[in-house]
Amino acid sequence: MPAQPPILAIVGATGTVGREMLDILASRDYPAGAVRLFASKRSAGSTIAYCDESLTVNELTAGALAGVDIALFSAGSEVSRRFAPPAAASGVVVIDNSSAFRMEPEVPLVIPEVNGEILDRGDTQGGIIANPNCSTIILLMALTPIQRAFGIKRIIVSTYQAASGAGAAAMRELSDQSADVLAGRDARPAVFHEPCAFNVFSHNTTVDPATGRNIEEQKMIEETRKIWRDEKMAISTTCIRVPVLRAHAESINVELHRAASEARFRAALTDFPGLTIVDDREGNDFPTSLKAAGGDDVLVGRIRPDSSLPKDVRGGETAHFGFDLFAAGDQLRKGAALNAIQIMDLVRQRVTSAV
Ligand SMILES: NC(=O)c1ccc[n+]([C@@H]2O[C@H](COP(=O)([O-])OP(=O)(O)OC[C@H]3O[C@@H](n4cnc5c(N)ncnc54)[C@H](OP(=O)(O)O)[C@@H]3O)[C@@H](O)[C@H]2O)c1
Repeated sequence: MPAQPPILAIVGATGTVGREMLDILASRDYPAGAVRLFASKRSAGSTIAYCDESLTVNELTAGALAGVDIALFSAGSEVSRRFAPPAAASGVVVIDNSSAFRMEPEVPLVIPEVNGEILDRGDTQGGIIANPNCSTIILLMALTPIQRAFGIKRIIVSTYQAASGAGAAAMRELSDQSADVLAGRDARPAVFHEPCAFNVFSHNTTVDPATGRNIEEQKMIEETRKIWRDEKMAISTTCIRVPVLRAHAESINVELHRAASEARFRAALTDFPGLTIVDDREGNDFPTSLKAAGGDDVLVGRIRPDSSLPKDVRGGETAHFGFDLFAAGDQLRKGAALNAIQIMDLVRQRVTSAV
């Protein structure tokens, strides 16, 4: 792979994640001549404005990725299963946003700030690297510094997930349905199984009749264990959709192995890259979906000891075995497009340092 600029394919370029990728690449002045756009037959031939140019969308077909160095896939699991393995076999580095390969043992599942170092062990030609689920990324951005400093015994997390997590059509459904309801018309669900305007409902993924968990909840559990390399991590998840256009929020409770004073708990979060503390008790100013929307950082706040768990008073300092916090992150950026591009940055660094 050339040191720079690699020829980049955006697969799913017309979707919410694909467009966000283009937005990030344009903000970095990534050369238009090195960007190729792919989507389904439906949008082949359409154009997307990129920097001062207009790029044409191509239909993704077998062999269409010939000549590409890095392919950022965000067109759903089915497309990834069909087109990513042959592309990787021909030497393309595939960074995949779908859930198709995340739990394959040989596929790295990467959040650069959390476990980016695992990419150092691979070779530099071809292969598939998976981007974790958006809710998992936001959770582990908030908790990895805590895990490193004090060890986490158990996590309980409830999500408040934006409509755009289900793609462009879901985002339109929320806008259109809101307008309908405000105009006195009935809400007509199509993408979601419940009305999404002015409603809060259980995540739209399938529920396992045996466990009662939906697929999103199961992904958060399995992916957390894989990324932290801790198969026994105790984690309980509840995934909920809220009538928000973009940015997921999460209410998180953790039980620690080593008790921490509130000051030390906060200090552990302070310098973690990609994390910003928004926690003003007097001003009642905490993370919100709107504050996180469009931004790169995951916001954390409402940091407080969980008084239902034991505490430890030693040398005048009160340390707690449990804490509550609230996080919000733009799932289209850090939860998808930005994380994938940060993985691409790591791949490029690896290539450069190998030369
Ligand atoms: N939205 C999120 O917050 C989020 C977060 C993390 C991961 N993801 C994952 O990212 C992927 C895309 O999500 P999204 O929200 O961007 O969905 P989306 O808005 O519905 O966009 C889907 C994209 O896939 C393309 N596509 C569909 N069928 C195709 C085919 N047969 N061949 C080539 N391209 C095809 C679509 O092209 P057309 O315009 O031609 O239909 C469109 O560009 C999914 O795997 C999703 O799970 C999404």
